[in-house]
Amino acid sequence: MREIIKVEVAGRKADLAEYPTELLAVGHFSDAKGLDRICKQLDKELGGAIRAVIELGDFKGKQKTNAVIYGNGRIGAKRVLLVGLGERKKATLDAVRKAAALAANTAVKMKLKSLGLAVHGAFGGKFDLAALGRACAEGAYFGSYRYDEFVTEGNNGRADSLSVELIEPDSAKFRKLNKGLADGVIIGRAQSYARTVANRPGNVINPDTLAAEARQLAKGTAGLSCTVFDDKQLQARGMGGILAVGSGSANKPRLIILRYDGAKKAASKHATVGLVGKAITFDSGGISIKPAQRMDQMKLDKSGGIAVLATMKAVAELKLPLNVYGIIPAAENLPSGTSYRPGDIVTTYSGKTVEVQNTDAEGRMILCDGLAYAVKQKCDVIIDIATLTGACLVALGKYMAGLMGNDDRLGKQLRAAAEQSGEKLWPMPSGDEYAEEMKSKIADLKNIGSRWGGACTAAAFLRQFVGETNWAHLDIAGMDLFERETPVSTGGSRGFGVRLLTTYLMSVAGK
Ligand code: BES
Ligand code: ZN
Ligand code: ZN
Repeated sequence: MREIIKVEVAGRKADLAEYPTELLAVGHFSDAKGLDRICKQLDKELGGAIRAVIELGDFKGKQKTNAVIYGNGRIGAKRVLLVGLGERKKATLDAVRKAAALAANTAVKMKLKSLGLAVHGAFGGKFDLAALGRACAEGAYFGSYRYDEFVTEGNNGRADSLSVELIEPDSAKFRKLNKGLADGVIIGRAQSYARTVANRPGNVINPDTLAAEARQLAKGTAGLSCTVFDDKQLQARGMGGILAVGSGSANKPRLIILRYDGAKKAASKHATVGLVGKAITFDSGGISIKPAQRMDQMKLDKSGGIAVLATMKAVAELKLPLNVYGIIPAAENLPSGTSYRPGDIVTTYSGKTVEVQNTDAEGRMILCDGLAYAVKQKCDVIIDIATLTGACLVALGKYMAGLMGNDDRLGKQLRAAAEQSGEKLWPMPSGDEYAEEMKSKIADLKNIGSRWGGACTAAAFLRQFVGETNWAHLDIAGMDLFERETPVSTGGSRGFGVRLLTTYLMSVAGK
């Protein structure tokens, strides 16, 4: 995988004004009274240029806005990028992450090779320094990310590397920032990895090549191991849900199982967590085929599975003292003479039978086998993540993912992780009323409910396969899809879920 950005985890106890770089990014709050210590110092060296931009009203410090000021040899930096942080009193950690992302995105757009980040400086005391350092690194990766591995000419107009350094003149503060920065580099890189694998099209990533990717990841990552069930092994185990969905494609389905054993002794004080991610490498809808418009976006229907893959990478690199399963059912949903059809009755891995009423409701058909497998492995906690329903996108828009489940405590922990990671969740119901709609007259369940509450009925279906295990379901449809370029990032996959799940697992591990 080609990587364009190298975040160097090194600081220089250099004076900000002297630090040599092509671009030095500093933050400014929209409700700040005057300039903070960093801007004040730079402003003095620059002869009042920063104050002028603000006083003239050309830059107000609003989020997603910025202004460039030229150094003219007065300071070490060739340019200063003023980044808007929004209102200080409303600021969350995500404000610094987004500011770092905007700065890194701008640096790539300007074809620069170096960026000095000092956007954390304006937050002085508002957040823990380690958390600020981590958010800066995550943001730097997020903003600089580009997907152009198949562009053969001209590197898409960008420089081939970007070196980002977090600048902090105070050595005690730097030490604390640096601690978080190291975690942020691991998480940021894992998220970029997720984006690249997710952005790859259906003719490149199919269930088998995804399995090969997972094997390769496990091979190169200490503590991670990988097992893959091919179609014959799926058959032998009776994983009828995954097999049914995969039956229409020449690319046979797989179940990818990653294991991270960070808590070697069986007497681990932490729960064994099972992450289950939907990986439909392309969702045409199958026999219940989708309309042609934007069907290309359905290459991203593997995002949940990829989020699990990348989270396993991060967790292993962070060396968390936990045992985690990454369970990724993978299939391609295509119409053909061998496809599963509406009306079919499928026996799933759990033994429960499902009447297929719509082959486009395929995510739940593969997830139910993944969930039943996680239960069988005696996971104490199961979290599934899936681009499951258009209904969730209709309900919540593209700003947050739906959170459903059977355990309030787990839900609270995930919402806390969402707050910290900036990958937002919103609670939705999936109880008995919805489960009622999923009953079939000729099988145990059917795979679609009524017209209404589609995200909730889908979750209620999944609930039937986790038994008493503590479980949460994240519907991330719309988190990656239809996303165009924003000031903080390029379009395509956002790798949603990697920061969220890793943050959750860090909290379980007490980190
Ligand atoms: N992959 C889709 C869900 C989806 C839709 C994700 C739009 C992202 C954007 C899923 O497999 C699907 O097609 N779901 C159907 C379910 C329906 C047939 C009950 C849907 O949402 O329409
Ligand atoms: Zn579908
Ligand atoms: Zn789908």
